[in-house]
Amino acid sequence: MRLWRLAAAAIALAAAVPAGAFAQTVKLGIIDSYSGPFASVGEQLDRGIRLYMKQHEKDLPPGVKLEIIRRDDTGPNPDVAKRLAQELITRDHVQLLGGVIFTPNALAIAPLATESKTPFIIMNAGTAMITTKSPYIARVSFTQWQSCYPLASWALKNGIRKVYSIVSDYGPGIDSEAAFTKGFTDAGGQMLGAVRVPVANPDFVPFLQRAKDAKPDAVFAFVPAGKQATALMKGFSDLGMVQAGIKLIGPGDIATDEELHNMGDAALGVVTAFHYSAAATRPANLAFVKAYKAEFGPDQEPSFEVVDGYDGMAAIFHVIEAQGGKIDPDKTMALLKGWKDDNSPRGPIMIDPDTRDIVQNEYIRRIEKVNGQLANVEFETIPMVKDPWKEINHQQ
Ligand code: PHB
Repeated sequence: MRLWRLAAAAIALAAAVPAGAFAQTVKLGIIDSYSGPFASVGEQLDRGIRLYMKQHEKDLPPGVKLEIIRRDDTGPNPDVAKRLAQELITRDHVQLLGGVIFTPNALAIAPLATESKTPFIIMNAGTAMITTKSPYIARVSFTQWQSCYPLASWALKNGIRKVYSIVSDYGPGIDSEAAFTKGFTDAGGQMLGAVRVPVANPDFVPFLQRAKDAKPDAVFAFVPAGKQATALMKGFSDLGMVQAGIKLIGPGDIATDEELHNMGDAALGVVTAFHYSAAATRPANLAFVKAYKAEFGPDQEPSFEVVDGYDGMAAIFHVIEAQGGKIDPDKTMALLKGWKDDNSPRGPIMIDPDTRDIVQNEYIRRIEKVNGQLANVEFETIPMVKDPWKEINHQQ
């Protein structure tokens, strides 16, 4: 009798789950910049997602499939991002949203995440207040405050007293300028001037010339990573800033690893604060870089967006596994709060349960030659930094 019952149960299950099908499909909508001037940045993020899937898809609970639906926002276009998110939620019925390089896009999606109760895992966009715009947002990437605020203390301790700021004129640029200026001036440093440039800026020379004329010890700069970083570095070199005794410092976006080979020796000596360097020698990172090169080519370096996409998928796998593939929005958010990974390629990471923002090490790095190649060499660690903007403004 017992055997018969078991057999019947097995037959019923087989009928419900035809061979090759899955009992539970989780749908994840990824909004990323796959085309346009920032396509190389979007590609980095997607590589992180692909690498994680390749390594870990087999670890999903039996009968659970993760379907990723990718959409291209084409760059900093909030209207496009909003429409894509709307379609993913209402037509494709995704249970989770992820991705997003650009702050304006993340902000456009936030109210939709709230209305539809769709957990939204941010894998790049770095303006501090984004996480306050929806209780269904968790961020696995970084905030500009996290790197720029501690960088100010480092600069002062290392003989930089006068700084000129150049940032892209939108959320993360304005945050970078504010964070550095607060850290720097509170501790006695002097800002000689500040200029904001278009998000996709063709030529940095006119802005750098103003900085040069002000005779600072250093230029502090933020631009969105990718080709903008290389354009900034080219302007710095063309104007002979180093020869004029002016250093370049900033968040790691301006020294993004995958572009270093395009920057040339002008980038040598640039000091940045950031949460990830491809050159880091932590065992978890050595394994990560090896796997990345095996997948994408021996001459390729993973940038921070790769590791942010990779860790974002780790967080998503955690919520899928913990719920056996049945995604409940509020349970998902509870699972994300306090989620941690002690062995990310970037070091230990955690989602702050109060703010849903990432807590992670910040590394002070200098561009040096390692085996003949430019690399962001970490030389100081500031452990487990919480977003300082939220700390200072008591924001959650
Ligand atoms: C953003 O829009 O928030 C953003 C984009 C590129 C970066 C950093 C932040 O490198």
